[in-house]
Amino acid sequence: MNTRGYYGIFGGAFIPEILVSTFDELVEAFEKAKNDSVFWREYEEIMSTYSCRPTPLTFAENLSRHFGGARLYIKREDLNHTGAHKANNVMGQGLLVKRMKKTRVIAETGAGQHGVATATMAAKFGLRCTIYMGAVDVKRQRPNVFWMQRLGAEVVPVTEGTGLLKDAINAAFRDWITHMDDTHYVLGTACGPHPFPEMVSYFQSIIGQEARKQILEKEGKLPKGIYACVGGGSNALGIFRAFLDDPVELVGVEAGGKGLETGQHASRLASKDGSIGVAQGYKTYFLQDGDGQMRETHSVAAGLDYIGVSPILSALKEQGRIRAEAVTDQEVMDALSLTIRKEGLIPALESAHAFAQAFKEAGRLSREDIILINQSGRGDKDIFTIADAFDDPSWKVFIQEKANEYAI
Ligand SMILES: Cc1ncc(COP(=O)(O)O)c(C=O)c1O
Repeated sequence: MNTRGYYGIFGGAFIPEILVSTFDELVEAFEKAKNDSVFWREYEEIMSTYSCRPTPLTFAENLSRHFGGARLYIKREDLNHTGAHKANNVMGQGLLVKRMKKTRVIAETGAGQHGVATATMAAKFGLRCTIYMGAVDVKRQRPNVFWMQRLGAEVVPVTEGTGLLKDAINAAFRDWITHMDDTHYVLGTACGPHPFPEMVSYFQSIIGQEARKQILEKEGKLPKGIYACVGGGSNALGIFRAFLDDPVELVGVEAGGKGLETGQHASRLASKDGSIGVAQGYKTYFLQDGDGQMRETHSVAAGLDYIGVSPILSALKEQGRIRAEAVTDQEVMDALSLTIRKEGLIPALESAHAFAQAFKEAGRLSREDIILINQSGRGDKDIFTIADAFDDPSWKVFIQEKANEYAI
């Protein structure tokens, strides 16, 4: 990467003039922190005492036996405080906010995990907090909205556009432009203008650093492949970064939604529908039409339902260093079901994308091979979507009874 935040032709910082000094301040604070070994120690300390780091590596014995091929290991980011890898990024940015002496944070959120994590960090560090969330996501991730509000954050439903993550990002940038003096924008993934892709993936790199050490300790060798889901790309880059120079295949799994051929998906790298463009302050592969207008996306997983992708992943894809795949909503549900039953683990719908692709490939490998799946978050937040998909009759009765109770 060069200092202007380019990764090959991707990345950059396409920002309005008015934000330039805010970004300069952020780049400076981040560079100083990165070169200060005390900062990383402070970061590790808070992640181990407030979150659950190092997160363990779990050998998925039953699934490995089921597929009869590679041995499957799972990196347990679901065990982080607030239930996802998002905690790694927000606590890192929270420490930077303290260094910059700002008093308010704003964030966008899709699945709500990043919003909950940011609201939690704000509560802990005593910061005011506003979260922008697409109106569609507010509806499908209601439990997370509840928690953000209880944590003291103001949740703003964004109704313009398609009411999804990209619209929430636009709203957050609009807020930032008018409150630059006291506010930091805690961007939730490795996208957006420089330094966000570098900064977010830097904080997330703790995942891969730990996983590399853990697998070498357990197995004495590196995995054959690593599977991670790709929304904006932060959990994928987080686990990939430590293995970039190793002979390990890195597989990023996007949302294939109802199938790539239907156009109803959110696959920017693995489908033919992605094309290079500039939006939301950076250059990358977007799902856009011929006029550069952003297309509608679809995924059962709110956190993967996004039109752009990290410029770092776009560059790694073009270099041939990562392989991009997409799995359908149905494949995700099947993988989720199997994982719950066989291992007693409940991955988030986002994470289940990585499981689904790994499951397709595990049986073709030998018992000597190891594959690593990043379980980026836990599935509790998805209970409504999962219960709908499984058409669970007793859950419906419970919801009806609860609704009747409220109606009285
Ligand atoms: C559990 C979980 N995994 C993955 C993602 C996708 O984000 P990213 O690609 O930045 O890891 C999200 C986003 O909300 C999430 O909540």
